[in-house]
Amino acid sequence: MLAPLLVLPLALAAQLPLAGAATTLPLSPVSGRSGAYLQGAPDAGRARVVHMKERAAHVAGYAAGSTTIPASNLAYVQYTASIGVGSPPTYYNIVVDTGSSNTFVGTGIPYVKTSSSIPTGQEVNVTYGSGFFSGYEYLDQVTIAPDLVITNQSIGDALEYADFEGVDGIIGVGPIDLTVGTLYPAEDAEIPTVMDNALAQGLIPTEVLGVSFAPATGYNDTNGALTFGGVDESLYEGDITYTPVTTTYPSNYYWGINVTGATYGETTVIPGSYAGIVDTGTTLIYIADDWYQTYQDSIPGAYYDGNNTGLIVIPFESIPFMQPFTVYVSGEPFVLDVEAQLLPIWQNTAWGAEPNLQYGYIGPIGSPSGEGLDFILGQKFMERFYAVFDTPNSRVGFAYSDHTY
Ligand SMILES: *[C@@H]1O[C@H](CO)[C@@H](O)[C@H](O)[C@H]1NC(C)=O
Ligand SMILES: *[C@@H]1O[C@H](CO)[C@@H](O)[C@H](O)[C@H]1NC(C)=O
Ligand SMILES: *[C@@H]1O[C@H](CO)[C@@H](O)[C@H](O)[C@H]1NC(C)=O
Ligand SMILES: *[C@@H]1O[C@H](CO)[C@@H](O)[C@H](O)[C@H]1NC(C)=O
Ligand SMILES: *[C@@H]1O[C@H](CO)[C@@H](O)[C@H](O)[C@H]1NC(C)=O
Repeated sequence: MLAPLLVLPLALAAQLPLAGAATTLPLSPVSGRSGAYLQGAPDAGRARVVHMKERAAHVAGYAAGSTTIPASNLAYVQYTASIGVGSPPTYYNIVVDTGSSNTFVGTGIPYVKTSSSIPTGQEVNVTYGSGFFSGYEYLDQVTIAPDLVITNQSIGDALEYADFEGVDGIIGVGPIDLTVGTLYPAEDAEIPTVMDNALAQGLIPTEVLGVSFAPATGYNDTNGALTFGGVDESLYEGDITYTPVTTTYPSNYYWGINVTGATYGETTVIPGSYAGIVDTGTTLIYIADDWYQTYQDSIPGAYYDGNNTGLIVIPFESIPFMQPFTVYVSGEPFVLDVEAQLLPIWQNTAWGAEPNLQYGYIGPIGSPSGEGLDFILGQKFMERFYAVFDTPNSRVGFAYSDHTY
């Protein structure tokens, strides 16, 4: 049974990286328009202009030195990218995780060593909110794209592991501080991440990751895009709203931010500035238990199916009366409309859920507010809003996209 990836607050308190992640990549923006174009519909010309502008922005992105690759929404709960390791490379489908910072392979396809694979003699061991891996560290060549081939990248060879079903490992794009304590005997060592090495090797102009996810239309939907070294202007609309990486512990060890509040309709859910994290490796949107209770109580008949799916269940008769859930970032509203709060019923069985109930994406984090990590904006948030992880400016940005509503 597939379940949403859950992050355990205990693991967070212990400063352990978050469990498994996902990444999505967008592409083929023209495909949805080809029908109208072929029929000579009036919209076709406008669609073509839009596409050409997007294409130009995309190419401009390349010219500026950034690289965009596709990501796949796998099994509705995680985002993977196809990444090569070794020379010649073997390609692995690995989870894209902003909530951890080690990169490893071997949990599906075993690590294929080549002449570029250099053992460091270190053991590596990372425990996630769910699952773990341990094995040996290598330095190797990592191929993200033809123009983005990183050398001397730390790669874990996962020999023992748990909870990485269907994926080959993780590409960790979180902050470098999360790598401390993962090697043995070099327990104090920081391990440069793929982003760190890409910058140091002159492969990207700046240490910025742009993430575009979208609601999945199938079990393995290559609907996401990852831009290494900048943002891809064709993948969002309007301006990016930035907020600084938080100084509040423990969110400050991650891509942590303060939101400035959240509402459900007219009801206040998050009553001011609180810290939490933005995590591509977490499926759902989690909020502190007391805030979740406010949300649930605002939807007549809703209950928490904690013993089974870990999802909120919403009575069908309450859906027409549901309200937008709005997260404020730097005072700007990021609105999850009703549809954005609900699990499409056709996905229920894939999630191991009852076929005839309506489930939702907003869940309780497992601890009360006031602990310094009071929410997780996971994939279901980023499927509606473009996200930017900006290391040099120590900030996170969000923007509206064409799949916000
Ligand atoms: C990995 O770390 C966990 C938690 O610290 C520990 O229980 C386990 O023994 C370690 N495994 C290896 C192979 O070092
Ligand atoms: C390779 O990376 C390791 C750390 O991961 C570093 O200690 C070493 O200096 C690097 N070597 C080169 C040639 O950059
Ligand atoms: C998902 O689709 C991508 C792109 O077609 C492919 O590379 C990958 O192997 C697929 N993953 C699985 C688990 O089928
Ligand atoms: C961020 O939120 C925490 C509570 O989680 C609060 O103590 C802190 O003052 C906030 N920081 C800012 C800059 O608002
Ligand atoms: C969940 O299971 C526990 C232990 O079996 C039980 O006490 C509790 O009532 C159950 N909760 C729900 C909502 O079914």
